[in-house]
Amino acid sequence: MSITNTPDPAERARVVEQDLANVLHPLVQHRALERKQMVVVRAQGSTVVDADGSTYMDAMAGLWCVNIGYGRNELADIAAEQMRAIAYYPHTAMNLPAAQLGEQVNALMGGGYHVYFVNSGSEANEAGFKFARQYAKHEFPGEFRHKTIARQYAYHGTTLATLAAGGMGDRKVKFEPYAGEFLHAPAPTCYRCPLGLEYPSCGVACARAIETMILSEGPQTVAEVIVEPIMSGVGVAVPPDEYHPMVEAICRKYDVLLHVDEVINGFGRTGRMFGHQHWGISPDIVATAKGIISAYLPLGATIVKNSVFESFLGEPADGRQVFQVNTYGGHPAAAAVAVRNIEILLEERLAERAETIGGYLIDQLREKLAKHAVVGDIRGKGLLLGVELVADRATRRQLDGALVQGVVDRCKENGVLVGRSGGGARHSNTIVMSPPLIITRTECDTLVAALDEAIGRAADASRAAAG
Ligand SMILES: Cc1ncc(COP(=O)(O)O)c(C=O)c1O
Repeated sequence: MSITNTPDPAERARVVEQDLANVLHPLVQHRALERKQMVVVRAQGSTVVDADGSTYMDAMAGLWCVNIGYGRNELADIAAEQMRAIAYYPHTAMNLPAAQLGEQVNALMGGGYHVYFVNSGSEANEAGFKFARQYAKHEFPGEFRHKTIARQYAYHGTTLATLAAGGMGDRKVKFEPYAGEFLHAPAPTCYRCPLGLEYPSCGVACARAIETMILSEGPQTVAEVIVEPIMSGVGVAVPPDEYHPMVEAICRKYDVLLHVDEVINGFGRTGRMFGHQHWGISPDIVATAKGIISAYLPLGATIVKNSVFESFLGEPADGRQVFQVNTYGGHPAAAAVAVRNIEILLEERLAERAETIGGYLIDQLREKLAKHAVVGDIRGKGLLLGVELVADRATRRQLDGALVQGVVDRCKENGVLVGRSGGGARHSNTIVMSPPLIITRTECDTLVAALDEAIGRAADASRAAAG
């Protein structure tokens, strides 16, 4: 199908038929796809267009990733130009755009890092796990530091190791068993604290639990701790300000590496270039993807502190180098596009913009939605936001799942795309938002109005069900 301004209904029907007969889609049930589909043909700014002519304001930036917005044609030109020069060569050799991108990303991290290129967030975390283990083999030869401490309800990707590190049971259960070297500490999901405590009297017990875990396992067996600065998938859990500095201090105390997953948080999303920069911590390993290239092409990167990088130095015969290669890692076309993507983020000050427009959006959400009895909590940072829906504010009992899904579906009917958290019965009751960082105030108003109407309907239905 061509990308035209005047979609042809017959052509759309043909694509649907072709797709249903041949393609297997992620996450969505094909029986549901047979009844209803989206066939995306164009997008501009924050707006996505279906082949049937419907337009949607995409308050999820795809899958939390199109940070600079859709339709930046100059990125297509850059990819084409780079492909004409050299489309591909393995990254065992150097290439111009990847070197430039490495320098750019290192500078954004504040310097002192090296950057390893992959193709997705899962691969970025996967490489991070392996780097942590390899580092431990070099630096602690008499020990067996191989375990990763992660958090319950975390999401770190789709491969077996990233799933094992993740803590979302419903995403994991079909693929069990996993190897046992990933352990899960309680998550800082304060509105629904796993320890049944209240901040600040809790003393940030969820961070302290990581130390207990390291001690109980034996520090000589633990390679790293992995955290997402603001947990996105579980419903945008912003931790207390003490949390990350406490986790970092625990890691330092036991010589455990701190691995930060910036796949969603990174590249301006939360109002800083990286989410961890809100808390002044200094990670050893950082996984990125999504916003690094605003999803214009597949690209991820694992950023390692120079102390880790230096552990991989030696003569070739010493065997200390990185023991893996990703065929497409350091792809010149992707790197060239990412370089320009980052320039755009900086030129248009989109991290700062995420902070200011995100501030406007969260104020509007609070002002317009608080009247609905089913709104339990509204939280977020920058343009990473969540509205948690409850059946009962006093007990915080989750709103019925069908009603939560009804809010997402109703917003879509009204031309606004929002997401829903994962995390099974305990956590899948939050409406999540992660719009392009170029979203306008008018678009924020449209988003809030759509949520107001959809949540109002859910509140009516919840009241009716309660009798
Ligand atoms: C926090 C986090 N880490 C890692 C990933 C995996 O990234 P990818 O889907 O590019 O493999 C995701 C994907 O949504 C994510 O949200």
